[in-house]
Amino acid sequence: MITVNTLKQAKLDQNKITMLTCYDSSFASLLDTCGIEILLVGDSLGMVMQGESSTLPVDLEDMCYHTRCVAKGNKNALVLSDLSFGSYEDSKEQAFVSASQLMKNGANMVKLEGGEYQAETIHFLQQRSIPVCAHIGLTPQAVNTIGGYKVQGKGDAAEQLLKDAKALDEAGASLMVMECVPKELAKKITKEVSCPTIGIGAGVYCDGQVLVLQDMLGIYLGKKAKFVKNFMQGQDSIENAIKAYIKAIKNLTYPDDEHSFL
Ligand code: KIV
Repeated sequence: MITVNTLKQAKLDQNKITMLTCYDSSFASLLDTCGIEILLVGDSLGMVMQGESSTLPVDLEDMCYHTRCVAKGNKNALVLSDLSFGSYEDSKEQAFVSASQLMKNGANMVKLEGGEYQAETIHFLQQRSIPVCAHIGLTPQAVNTIGGYKVQGKGDAAEQLLKDAKALDEAGASLMVMECVPKELAKKITKEVSCPTIGIGAGVYCDGQVLVLQDMLGIYLGKKAKFVKNFMQGQDSIENAIKAYIKAIKNLTYPDDEHSFL
């Protein structure tokens, strides 16, 4: 079983951590059997499963349903579930009520978006037996305030992102997703925080990598993001594509500069 301790040790051993999104039981079983360490029940299911144009319409009930499906198909991987938009921002108490629902449905850790202002909530959940993965950089639930899906932490914004990462780490985050962050900044953050970092469009120096499953299988909804690589290319089965993804992460050939923000 992959636990928070396995992930901590992987960072110390410099053994890259593999994560993919997963929304159902049959893929959970396949990804787990292939050796993926973390199954992310992401709120990207809004786009991938429900045909929405953003993650905002996804409800906590949707997240609980898909978490339950994934947990049933899984044996060894750590199940990480997203707190949906509107289910945690109001107060740390609201976050606990929502996060505990995800845990009751089979999550081993919950993920929430935001910078240092989320430190108190992360500390509150961690103290109450709920491990938390922070999500910084491009935070898709904030697409309307950010003004689009674009690279974060460029220029002067780099300092604030580093400050966010340190505050969330000190608050007790067990894991940190960094989305669309320049490679060298992600490297600096990875060095300075004690929790493992997982990149998506954040370069090869993160402690692990995540992609949306459908993206890495070449099923793109709309425009392909720079960091997405189609691992089905050259493979004759989904199973082999997943194994190629794991191998590329472990031997540091993905993401290369073509799939990173420099
Ligand atoms: O919901 C999701 O798929 C995510 C990834 C983009 C990290 O949060």
